Amino acid sequence: MNPPHFNADFDQRVVVPPPSATGWLASPQPGVQRHRLDRVGGEVARATSIVRYDAGSSFARHSHGGGEEFLVLEGTFSDEHGDYAAGSYVRNPPGTSHQPFSRNGCTLFVKLWQFSAGDSEPLHIATRETAWRPGLVPGLAVMPLHEFDGISTALVRWAPHTRFSTHTHPGGEEILVLEGLFRDEHGEYPAGTWLRNPRASRHTPFTGAEGALIYVKVGLFGAELLQPAAPSA
Ligand SMILES: [Fe+2]
Ligand SMILES: [Fe+2]
Repeated sequence: MNPPHFNADFDQRVVVPPPSATGWLASPQPGVQRHRLDRVGGEVARATSIVRYDAGSSFARHSHGGGEEFLVLEGTFSDEHGDYAAGSYVRNPPGTSHQPFSRNGCTLFVKLWQFSAGDSEPLHIATRETAWRPGLVPGLAVMPLHEFDGISTALVRWAPHTRFSTHTHPGGEEILVLEGLFRDEHGEYPAGTWLRNPRASRHTPFTGAEGALIYVKVGLFGAELLQPAAPSA
């Protein structure tokens, strides 16, 4: 079941352990499971989740009223427009639609209804074939994915024993740990962990011997996102 609200207080810091620790929830589609990260709304929801497709499963045709963003974590995701291998970062802007499936199974990180008004550009980046740029401190490499209206999304690779400066997130920060072990003074976050740090939060992240690869989005809670229409009576 999907309750309408889950981790819906965006002023709260949230840490969700990996699906390997919590188990998966069934979805209405056979062979498709979900791991909830946050959700606001009923039938039409602003939601962040990890979704797993078994080999040979499919999902109902749907349109993206408020846009869809996803990163393929494992396997290959497909729709009638093409195949998206592991590492594909895709943005399907408001108004697009598709009928997804997976031949051999896949896992995706998905965000729905988190586009700013006016962000209408489709995007597909094969991150495993894209060059990295040097980051702000030695040991950091950055791959910018998308930027619009003060919301920035990137992959960041942390070499072992990298320490970043203490910093504040005026518009909040969201992190999905993709590989390794990410740390800050509040805790340790193994691969598959999702963190949401509220507006004006502050931390000093670092890595140990493992290093880390993270997906990071900043500015989401300072932006004017599209709003799902209120249900009519
Ligand atoms: Fe979709
Ligand atoms: Fe941060």
